[in-house]
Amino acid sequence: MNKKNIALLGTGFISNFYTSTLHGQRSNDRVLMIYSRSEEKAAKFAEKWSIPHQTTDLNEAVNHPEIDTVIVGLPNHRHLEAVLAAAAAGKAVLCTKPLGRTAAEAKAMLDAVEKAGVFHGYLEDLVYTHKTLKALQSVRNGALGDILWVRSRETHPGPHSDWFWNKELSGGGAIVDMGCHCIEIARTFIGKDIRPVEVMCWADTQVKPIDAEDHGIGLVRYETGAIGQFEVSWTFRGGMDLRDEISGVEGTIRMDHFLRTGFETFTAVGEGGYVAEKAETEKGWIFPVGDEVGALGYDNMFLDMFNAIDEKRKPAEDFYDGYVVNAIIDACYKSVRTKKWEPVELDIWRGRKGVARINSLKEYDADHYLVKEERLPDGSVKLILKEKASGRIVQRERENVK
Ligand SMILES: NC(=O)c1ccc[n+]([C@@H]2O[C@H](COP(=O)([O-])OP(=O)(O)OC[C@H]3O[C@@H](n4cnc5c(N)ncnc54)[C@H](O)[C@@H]3O)[C@@H](O)[C@H]2O)c1
Repeated sequence: MNKKNIALLGTGFISNFYTSTLHGQRSNDRVLMIYSRSEEKAAKFAEKWSIPHQTTDLNEAVNHPEIDTVIVGLPNHRHLEAVLAAAAAGKAVLCTKPLGRTAAEAKAMLDAVEKAGVFHGYLEDLVYTHKTLKALQSVRNGALGDILWVRSRETHPGPHSDWFWNKELSGGGAIVDMGCHCIEIARTFIGKDIRPVEVMCWADTQVKPIDAEDHGIGLVRYETGAIGQFEVSWTFRGGMDLRDEISGVEGTIRMDHFLRTGFETFTAVGEGGYVAEKAETEKGWIFPVGDEVGALGYDNMFLDMFNAIDEKRKPAEDFYDGYVVNAIIDACYKSVRTKKWEPVELDIWRGRKGVARINSLKEYDADHYLVKEERLPDGSVKLILKEKASGRIVQRERENVK
């Protein structure tokens, strides 16, 4: 296990989460260099996390001889510049979500890291939560059969900094900010080698005085016929709601990652401090999260990234994944404008081609397919069958079947 010597770009919300994860649990990995535009912020961050080097020059940060790994935690409009600098410096680069503001930006980043031959990781934390990894194992074991539908929801009352609300800087509203998580969660369960074909998306600016959308719902159709459904909002009241549902031919998984995790507190006087990300109240019934780093997947994410560097393999999420997510988001914005299904335009597709639609016909006997079987309140069992020869749907009842 090689110790990672990290240059972290950015000193805001995500940089604090990343550093607490990277320096946590007596880890050897260290942020050795912090970059901020502001000398004062860099100094404050360096002091808080005991970081020996600080700079207001991005190129100096990535080129520092002690640094082997660059982590980009800057606002969206600076990801491209930061990634190009890291690639030019020949350093491994990990970039937070969304990779780009558009697929064109993401593609420029992918091209740069591949041309430079440097390791690249896309920091999509929500596919690494402990619950998600366990659920993914169940899906890979076949516990749910073929996956038909993944519904992923991320809603909260809106982001914490000015630049998110500026469409030019962020690339859009709730869809680019949070849809990127939901889209990648659905891709992960449906299969990242299955091509996303087309999208239908609704978005609106319902509450906030901004140009971008503060609410959006989208459907992403995959080549197998599976559907990824995302629901994102910056207008949701009551905290941060992160939920996923995975439906397969043989089973279902439901996960609540944040708002109802089985930890509920009532306080008449107030918590007197931070409760959980985007919590709206510190009094009355509140919903703390015991381990936000784990609940949001940051720990497993960096473990995979750093193990992948050591083992000279790809991590579960790399820039190609970030590019595919951006391409799906581009199609979503187009669909919002045209109110039509829009194709997902991918210049490069590295997954399987020509995958057949899900086919889950169940044989009942030589003459029938089984549509369904159900026990009724009187104890009898009813069978709904399809006659193979005629195509007719028929029913049969069996009384008091044990
Ligand atoms: N779950 C996640 O993975 C997750 C969560 C939150 C944010 N993010 C991502 O992290 C990135 C940063 O978001 P954040 O929440 O830390 O934002 P933030 O506003 O808390 O922090 C951004 C920092 O960058 C500075 N900054 C602002 N404009 C800048 C500019 N033009 N150049 C350099 N620095 C600038 C700000 O002063 C601030 O210190 C974004 O890409 C965001 O999408 C990811």
